[in-house]
Amino acid sequence: MPKVAVIGAGQVGSTAAMRLAESGIAEIALIDVKGDLARAKALDISQALPLTSSPCKVTGGSDYELAGESEVVVITAGMARQPGMSRHDLLRSNAKIVRDVVTSIKDATPDCAIIMVTNPLDEMSYLAWRLTGWKRHRIMGMAGLLDSCRFASFIADKLEIPPDQVDAIVLGSHGDTMLPLPRLSTVSGTPVTDRLSPEILRELEERTRNAGAEIVSLLQTGSAYYAPSACIARMAQAIMGDEELQVPASVLLDGEYGMRDVFLGVPVTLARGGWKIVVELPLLADEQEGLETCANLIRKRLVELDEWLEGAR
Ligand code: NAI
Ligand code: 2OP
Repeated sequence: MPKVAVIGAGQVGSTAAMRLAESGIAEIALIDVKGDLARAKALDISQALPLTSSPCKVTGGSDYELAGESEVVVITAGMARQPGMSRHDLLRSNAKIVRDVVTSIKDATPDCAIIMVTNPLDEMSYLAWRLTGWKRHRIMGMAGLLDSCRFASFIADKLEIPPDQVDAIVLGSHGDTMLPLPRLSTVSGTPVTDRLSPEILRELEERTRNAGAEIVSLLQTGSAYYAPSACIARMAQAIMGDEELQVPASVLLDGEYGMRDVFLGVPVTLARGGWKIVVELPLLADEQEGLETCANLIRKRLVELDEWLEGAR
């Protein structure tokens, strides 16, 4: 059975571990700097598996030896947003955590693919790539799938139809400039632009951009984890199953969409070892411009990260 290591046994990490363990597709190693927390959650998850008929083994602790021979490593270690905080506010504190985690993973399980989850997402994905020096196909950030699911759920709500009839797509950054694409989103195969007015769609796009903050402000402590963990589990499953599933994810561009040297949310196919190809959708001029705006903002923060990395040496 393949193994997935989940680093960070907080809300997102433990829920992702639970979803993966209950789906019966992988052995799970749950690792946290707070070893007892990871041990406790691993025990708790394991004790549900006789009931859910899952053959999976779940272990927990702080020792990276547990992660040995993982096919996929999911990184959720780090601080979550509090009310009033942007994802960017987490840059410095989470960069230190991600640096420690990635250094340990490199030794413990050198052949894995990494799904980054820690925020700020695009920047932390870049950091993992810089620190590993691995080929770009092995590292991706989970956010585009979550933002697309959120957009789809708001569309379904507005049309009063089941959410699984909507296929929506959001590209760009996991931030305020993210790019919902109603023109390429569909309801049972029909463009959503045929079903909802431009005004309503603009309102839903704005709600999608603020969907993470909406939950943060309602929860008051921490951020979303049910939808994020569902997206993580689906991506890990697609990689281990060599499915070539197409989802938006943050990856390093090398000429695709006319850009390079930046992590950006674009459609990719997921297959054994990580992602396989970037799917280049035919974008209109204003959509391409929106994507470039996201990339330019992220690039500025990558410069900030590079300076921090140089200073930290
Ligand atoms: P949480 O606070 O519940 O859990 C974080 C865990 O990381 C804690 O258990 C903590 O002990 C652990 N940790 C801290 N330093 C560590 C280290 N050096 N090694 C191992 N573990 C360490 O936070 P939550 O809600 O699970 O969120 C985790 C991260 O995921 C946050 O940065 C959050 O912003 C991000 N996130 C990203 C999403 C996305 O779409 N990309 C969606 C939801 C959350
Ligand atoms: C979210 O979008 C906090 O990035 C996290 O829910």
